[in-house]
Amino acid sequence: MALTQLDQALQTEIDRLKEEGRAKPPERIITGYHPPAEGRGPRYSLLGQEQLFLRMNSNSYLSLSNHPELIAAADAATHACGVGPGAVRFIDGTFSYHVALEERIARFVGKEAAKIFNSAYTSNCGLALAVGNPKTHWIGDQLNHNSIIRAMRIAGVPSANKGIYAHNDMAGLKRCLDAVGENIDRVVVIFDGIFSMRGDYAPIDQIMAITDRYTEKFKDGVITVVDDSHGIGAYGATGRGTAEYAGRTPDIVIGTFGKAFGVNGGFIAASKTVIEAVRQKADTYIYTNPLSVADCAAATKAVDICDSGEGAKLLENLRLRTRQFREGLTGLGLESIPGPHPVVPLLVRDTAKTHALVKHLFAHGVLVVGLTFPVVPKGDETIRFQVNAAHTAQDIDLVLDILRGTI
Ligand SMILES: Cc1ncc(COP(=O)(O)O)c(C=O)c1O
Repeated sequence: MALTQLDQALQTEIDRLKEEGRAKPPERIITGYHPPAEGRGPRYSLLGQEQLFLRMNSNSYLSLSNHPELIAAADAATHACGVGPGAVRFIDGTFSYHVALEERIARFVGKEAAKIFNSAYTSNCGLALAVGNPKTHWIGDQLNHNSIIRAMRIAGVPSANKGIYAHNDMAGLKRCLDAVGENIDRVVVIFDGIFSMRGDYAPIDQIMAITDRYTEKFKDGVITVVDDSHGIGAYGATGRGTAEYAGRTPDIVIGTFGKAFGVNGGFIAASKTVIEAVRQKADTYIYTNPLSVADCAAATKAVDICDSGEGAKLLENLRLRTRQFREGLTGLGLESIPGPHPVVPLLVRDTAKTHALVKHLFAHGVLVVGLTFPVVPKGDETIRFQVNAAHTAQDIDLVLDILRGTI
């Protein structure tokens, strides 16, 4: 009974979201994974649906979630240490599997040290709490992920200590740096590596060429941070992400194990001192149980695979299938945003057509996500396709066939 009034108030808010077209539809429920067979990649069964589905909306770019070695690693770790940590990290919740994953990911991204979190989302929040102080000014790309924007709010960054530049606008970044107040000790420039709605990337080399010129101006310098959640494991010659692609690595790298690596969890990688500050000051690290040892063992194995001959082959197939799909879209006269990342947006530029096309693809057994206003500006309505390393040439042809003649 105590919730009756609150329920009413919240229902009004939910109804408003529906009226404004901002409510999320009911969630589909995946009930099974069907391994690759007969020239086709994996398929998924959904509750209440007869047919099997091809996923073109998964972040699992290397398609490792069902890899037997990841499953075996998770299994062995669980048998060795159990399913849960029993406490937060500093109260004897640290297991050898946590430390092994931290060392592995630090080595992979070329940093001295790393701390793992339950997600990249909580990593961003932890970073803002750990490196921010009242004399810190934050500058970010206008299209930064929600977790970076929320991190600023959680860390209580006042609007006077924030600057936002238009998407990938280097002149705008310079203006933000020029506008930083005299009383500021440190400036943090933070940006997504890959912008997940568009599949384009931050020009890290250009960003750092600019920040280099300002760093002496501030007592603690200008620190660059990339959240490369969609890049690590999926982008760059060896999967080291946007930094590898752009030829320069920011001071701090944030990422996730929940996309290309196919598991779960996030990380911050940086110098030993920054990571010790994270351990001491990041509430989203300190006051919450860590990942299970199963997650850690599977994620460590995923990084190992990415960094091996097998990973090189997976990345090569990912690149080939991505190119096949992009070229196929162009061949059909459809509009996309160019670039080599496996996020391939199809610009439909119309809300009703976007919804209809998502429905059409679903009816033909393909899962995609449609992005309409207010998620994207009016006129930029898009269907986001995501290619992964388990897709076959046949899968890509199938999707292109379904799209043929639709717009
Ligand atoms: C840039 C960026 N950061 C963070 C996240 C969240 O990742 P996680 O699921 O590990 O919290 C995403 C995923 O949507 C993302 O695109």
